[in-house]
Amino acid sequence: MGMGWLFSVFLLFRFSFSHSWCHPHDKLALLHFKASLTINVTYCDRVYPTIETWENETDCCSWSGVTCHPISSHVTALDLTCGGLQGKINANSTLFTLSHMQSLNLAFNDFSNSQIPSPIGEFGSLTHLNLSFSNFKGEIPPQISHLSKLQSLDLSIDDWFQLRWEEGTWKRMLQNATDLRVLDLTRNNLSSTSMRSLNLSSSLITLRLRETRLKGKLSDDILCLPNLQHLYLSGNFDLHGQLQDLSCASASLNVLEISYCELDGPIPDCFSNLTHLTLFDLSDNYFNGSIPPSLLILPRLNSLLLHYNLVSGKIPNVFHKSNRFEELDLHFNNIEGELPSTFSNLQHLIYLDISYNKLEGPLPNKISGFSNLTGLLLTDNLLNGTIPSWCFALPSLVSLDLSGNQFTGGMPAISSYSLQSLVLDGNKLQGNISESVFNLVNLTHLQLSSNNFSGSVNFSLFSKFQNLEILRLSNSGQLSLNFESSVNYSFSRLLELDLSSMGLTEFPKLSRKIPVLETLLLSNNKLNGKVPNWLHEMDSLLEVSLARNFLTTPVDQFSRNYQLKYLDVSFNLLTGGISSSICNASFLQDLDLSNNKLTGTIPQCLVSLPFLLVLSLDSNRLNGTLPNTFAKNILSSLQLNDNLFEGPLPESLSNCMQLEVLNLGNNQLEDTFPHWLQTLPNLVVLVLRDNKLHGHIYILRTESGFPSLNIFDISSNNFIGPIPEDYIQSFESMKNVVQDEVVPKPQLYMEWPYRISPITVTTKGAILLFKKNSNKICEH
Ligand SMILES: *[C@@H]1O[C@H](CO)[C@@H](O)[C@H](O)[C@H]1NC(C)=O
Ligand SMILES: *[C@@H]1O[C@H](CO)[C@@H](O)[C@H](O)[C@H]1NC(C)=O
Ligand SMILES: *[C@@H]1O[C@H](CO)[C@@H](O)[C@H](O)[C@H]1NC(C)=O
Ligand SMILES: *[C@@H]1O[C@H](CO)[C@@H](O)[C@H](O)[C@H]1NC(C)=O
Ligand SMILES: *[C@@H]1O[C@H](CO)[C@@H](O)[C@H](O)[C@H]1NC(C)=O
Ligand SMILES: *[C@@H]1O[C@H](CO)[C@@H](O)[C@H](O)[C@H]1NC(C)=O
Ligand SMILES: *[C@@H]1O[C@H](CO)[C@@H](O)[C@H](O)[C@H]1NC(C)=O
Ligand SMILES: *[C@@H]1O[C@H](CO)[C@@H](O)[C@H](O)[C@H]1NC(C)=O
Ligand SMILES: *[C@@H]1O[C@H](CO)[C@@H](O)[C@H](O)[C@H]1NC(C)=O
Ligand SMILES: *[C@@H]1O[C@H](CO)[C@@H](O)[C@H](O)[C@H]1NC(C)=O
Ligand SMILES: *[C@@H]1O[C@H](CO)[C@@H](O)[C@H](O)[C@H]1NC(C)=O
Ligand SMILES: *[C@@H]1O[C@H](CO)[C@@H](O)[C@H](O)[C@H]1NC(C)=O
Repeated sequence: MGMGWLFSVFLLFRFSFSHSWCHPHDKLALLHFKASLTINVTYCDRVYPTIETWENETDCCSWSGVTCHPISSHVTALDLTCGGLQGKINANSTLFTLSHMQSLNLAFNDFSNSQIPSPIGEFGSLTHLNLSFSNFKGEIPPQISHLSKLQSLDLSIDDWFQLRWEEGTWKRMLQNATDLRVLDLTRNNLSSTSMRSLNLSSSLITLRLRETRLKGKLSDDILCLPNLQHLYLSGNFDLHGQLQDLSCASASLNVLEISYCELDGPIPDCFSNLTHLTLFDLSDNYFNGSIPPSLLILPRLNSLLLHYNLVSGKIPNVFHKSNRFEELDLHFNNIEGELPSTFSNLQHLIYLDISYNKLEGPLPNKISGFSNLTGLLLTDNLLNGTIPSWCFALPSLVSLDLSGNQFTGGMPAISSYSLQSLVLDGNKLQGNISESVFNLVNLTHLQLSSNNFSGSVNFSLFSKFQNLEILRLSNSGQLSLNFESSVNYSFSRLLELDLSSMGLTEFPKLSRKIPVLETLLLSNNKLNGKVPNWLHEMDSLLEVSLARNFLTTPVDQFSRNYQLKYLDVSFNLLTGGISSSICNASFLQDLDLSNNKLTGTIPQCLVSLPFLLVLSLDSNRLNGTLPNTFAKNILSSLQLNDNLFEGPLPESLSNCMQLEVLNLGNNQLEDTFPHWLQTLPNLVVLVLRDNKLHGHIYILRTESGFPSLNIFDISSNNFIGPIPEDYIQSFESMKNVVQDEVVPKPQLYMEWPYRISPITVTTKGAILLFKKNSNKICEH
């Protein structure tokens, strides 16, 4: 009997506790919640709970995604991540009657751009709320601050700034939710909140505020939160200030990611406490000073990202065998000196990028690690000596870029068969191209331009690379290419072929062998006669340069390449006219036919092409009047100088609001001074010299005429009278020249995106002449 009683108690226990039937109220609430939404399978890379299996007949505590309290059998957690839910949750939704809810996860659903419903604040016991990536939009309901027990809140989203926090809501939430450990508001709009007003819970472990428009000064408070392990603040362009002393930071700090902000100042040298730091990312800021040695010896650091800053000095020579670095990215800084010899201690390195710095001297002769190195990028430094053989023997290497250095010597045998990108242009390498290159079956990029190679190579060999996308061999010394027309080769993926400056006397026969070629560069060779038909038949071509050859081809032929964006046939022997058929190439952005023997007029349609950015027809024998059909387009540079144009200046040029360079010098143009150009906001160069322009130069009619002008040459015309004082005074940027005289900024010329035909500066008979990087400011 005793045993029977015990057994009944056992059954009762089992029944009411471990097999708790769900609370009827909650069951009903869930069924109504289910009915208020539609289910639509959207892409998710995990198995999602099937709310569809929720049925009246079964125990709701056993439903997919539902967790109940073991005693009260109230629903305490709902995880419908990737549930395929679609629709809105209304304020009267029965969901909010589940008052025992502690954890709610509706991530990766589609709530149709509705607002987060305000009754969410009624979940008094909620500790975890996750509504990430579920298509909520609009203002965060102020009631969210009632959730005082929250430990984790994830409202991260895909679409920037779709969720918006008012400062009051944000402040009250932080004040109330003092147990918050995880806060992820990636891409929420926090622009109303300044860094100063952040009063973050000291229990925070993970804080993700990437791309939130947070503004103000980076505060110590955030870096010194006592329990912080992960801090993500990247992509906040209004966040400035300096990185203070980090000795206050928690020893358990694991991730510090503050890239793409506006921070400046030095990187503090106080990392010794941060023994758990694995990722340190300050890239894309304005940090200066040198790399602190204490940072480099952190025992667990595996990713150090400082690229795009102003860091200078040498890399401290402190690397140990115990270092765990896998990724070191220092590109675009001012780092100098030799590569530290202790680099070779780095066994675990996967990616090393120190491109665009001032590293000098040779690379170390021997390296003991690097067996997992996949990327070695040292582009644009001052490295010299021969390239050590280990560079070409790393077993995992995928990308090697040593371009833009001063390496000499030959190209050793290559045994890094995993290589996909081999970029050595712009060095002083000599000798033959190593035959071993042709064993690199997976190459997509082979760039050997601008070296001193010699010998002869069969072009067809390069077709061994089935995946080749970019092949650059231009200007490589005495290297000569054999094109045997009989050999059947093909480049099924080649996008760019650069064979400029290779002494070619004939066009290689390529046509269908390169079905997707977009860029073909054959400038500065000895090509003569007509451009072969196959070139005009290549539909894929977007950029073609044939400059500096001896071509006599009619310009009209290029109208067959109607998809062209860039065409340069300057410095050839082109004759004949330019017919309006050239406008079939309606995507043209940059057309350079300068320095030929072209005759006739400019077709009207050409200057109104919608995408035209640069038009250079200078130094030809073009005549007639200039077309007056300039449209409101993006034209930035127009060079028609040194031709035989006559008649008036086209007033429609004032439509070209983006115009920066206008050179009409050395023609026969007859008109008065074009006052109507003074409103062009970006015009930097205006050259009208050597024409038949006449009359007075009147006082400006606008407040700031020619606001950007830098070179102004109207010499050798028939203007009369004085130059109005106002004119001289109102040339804003020229005034700057006067002030900047001591520190001129010649970079301006270097950075120009156009090839400007050299503007010969005339002083004899000049009325006004300005040049930013000269001390001669004004001559009469
Ligand atoms: C499912 O969602 C997709 C994408 O939002 C939508 O195009 C489609 O119409 C929806 N299907 C149903 C049955 O509602
Ligand atoms: C669920 O079943 C109960 C009893 O079987 C019934 O009274 C109730 O109406 C049903 N509810 C729904 C939403 O179907
Ligand atoms: C809930 O609210 C929605 C819209 O606010 C309304 O259309 C619906 O009838 C309401 N449902 C109930 C049961 O009150
Ligand atoms: C803080 O939380 C408590 C408890 O949920 C709530 O009563 C109170 O209104 C909240 N305060 C604010 C400012 O939201
Ligand atoms: C929110 O849910 C998603 C999907 O389940 C998960 O990947 C993410 O880590 C959760 N966020 C937090 C803070 O737990
Ligand atoms: C910050 O929050 C704490 C409690 O979380 C509170 O005691 C303190 O007064 C707050 N400070 C400010 C400046 O709001
Ligand atoms: C962000 O929110 C502020 C108001 O807090 C608003 O003025 C701004 O337009 C929003 N920004 C975006 C990009 O939506
Ligand atoms: C960090 O280390 C310094 C000494 O190096 C010590 O004074 C400081 O208290 C430590 N900070 C923390 C937060 O542990
Ligand atoms: C290289 O990578 C492999 C595979 O990821 C790993 O097992 C091995 O430990 C790595 N070697 C070093 C020296 O880090
Ligand atoms: C390499 O460069 C260093 C420093 O720039 C210079 O001292 C050295 O002579 C150069 N070596 C060679 C072989 O050019
Ligand atoms: C070339 O690439 C293929 C496909 O990615 C890969 O399977 C193969 O191992 C690679 N070959 C070498 C030599 O790395
Ligand atoms: C332009 O030059 C061509 C010859 O190149 C000549 O036939 C034509 O008359 C000229 N037109 C004008 C308007 O001078």
